[in-house]
Amino acid sequence: AKQRLIEERCAELILSDEQLREVCQRLLVEINRGLNKDTNKEATVKCFPTYVRELPNGEECGKFLALDLGGTNFRVLLIDLGPHVFHMESKIFAVPQSVMLGPGTGLFDHIAECLATFMHENQVDVSPLPLGFTFSFPCSQEGLTKARLATWTKGFKCSGVEGEDVVKLLQEAIARRGDIKIDVMAVLNDTTGTLMACAWKNPACRIGLILGTGINACYVERLENVQLWDGDHDDPKQVVINTELGAFGDNGTLEFIRTEYDRTIDQHSLNPGRQLFEKMISGMYMGEVTRLVLAQLTREGLLFDGMGPETLFEPGQFFTKYVSEIESDKKGEYTCCRQVLEELGYDDASDEDCANVRFICEAVSRRAAHIAAAAVACLLNKMGQKHVTVAVDGSLYRFHPHFHDLMVEKIRQLINPGLTFDLMLSEDGSGRGAALVAAVAVRIGGLAA
Ligand code: BG6
Ligand code: GLC
Repeated sequence: AKQRLIEERCAELILSDEQLREVCQRLLVEINRGLNKDTNKEATVKCFPTYVRELPNGEECGKFLALDLGGTNFRVLLIDLGPHVFHMESKIFAVPQSVMLGPGTGLFDHIAECLATFMHENQVDVSPLPLGFTFSFPCSQEGLTKARLATWTKGFKCSGVEGEDVVKLLQEAIARRGDIKIDVMAVLNDTTGTLMACAWKNPACRIGLILGTGINACYVERLENVQLWDGDHDDPKQVVINTELGAFGDNGTLEFIRTEYDRTIDQHSLNPGRQLFEKMISGMYMGEVTRLVLAQLTREGLLFDGMGPETLFEPGQFFTKYVSEIESDKKGEYTCCRQVLEELGYDDASDEDCANVRFICEAVSRRAAHIAAAAVACLLNKMGQKHVTVAVDGSLYRFHPHFHDLMVEKIRQLINPGLTFDLMLSEDGSGRGAALVAAVAVRIGGLAA
């Protein structure tokens, strides 16, 4: 009987195909508003042109530095590209929370310091190397090396950066130190990096998708559809668009599927009212959505005899990786589930409790996978190309045991007849992609000179 009640309470997390089609259609409306110059100002899905127009062809060569900020890890990389091969050194540096929430100069001084340390350690501090900067936040670009931060998302909120050109802030921080020299060749979003890294080997790749701390997608759009485009109209007549679809819903258009849990998450976030689509899906929030459901149903007496682990009632204490772990158990087994509950301080979960916990995790992650699938289907339908490869990266996609399959199944049901696609993991997209964008820029710049 309890189980039936739990199912009833979770029904709002299960979206019908009809609802998902509606999500698809509404996203298309928002993307078109973003692309249209008369409506872009108010648009929530901004569709920023990236100035990346050429996809790599596998022939790119050279030594590049890359910075990768905005995902789980901040990394500095050294990439050696040769025709169809590459070699990479990288190092992860911590970004303390005080820096993520402090003044912008502090953040960029920290980045410059990590970069300097890395360059000294790898002895590449003598002649200036070209650098690609993966900065995974919404930016309005005015060129390949100029990106104004529109607004912070995810866990960052440094003062004095919104509205500023982040390349300039980086260069100023490097100049303040005076011990290293670099040439910033490109600034890009992680979605663009992921797309480029995959396109390097696979010419059918036309969409880059991140399912990680945040969610976002970029795609290759024809210039004629990009009214905001202010660059030249030479071949190739296309440009990569960073949709910033994590902000889908910020104008109220997703209220028909949002729940009380989603509203609670939003209210307690660093950016209330923003990134509402992202908050229903991505790794930074999915564990917390799950926790809120578990806590609520425990309060109602439907789980753990009404007395679950105390940590269940503390914000932020149920990580998205727990959802992945719990769903890794074979059907009917609860080894990982028990381990997670023990970590939370609860030692005597019954099989029934475990089955219910798993049911709730599945409901939350399936909803996330399905609405992410609706977003991909929207792009595939909009592009209308016979076959498109979607490059995907991010911890949620990598570590959740069923996300890929759930998405593939649902995208198939949502795309227009005649279209085909595949989802391909793009390993290390942001680092390699940054080098590739820089390499293409060097090539083009070299020709112009
Ligand atoms: C990887 C990048 O490509 O994917 C990250 O190196 C990027 O910097 C990431 O943002 C997204 O995944 P996550 O899970 O680290 O946010
Ligand atoms: C957030 C950022 C976006 C990024 C995504 C994935 O949505 O705004 O720029 O691509 O997270 O990291």
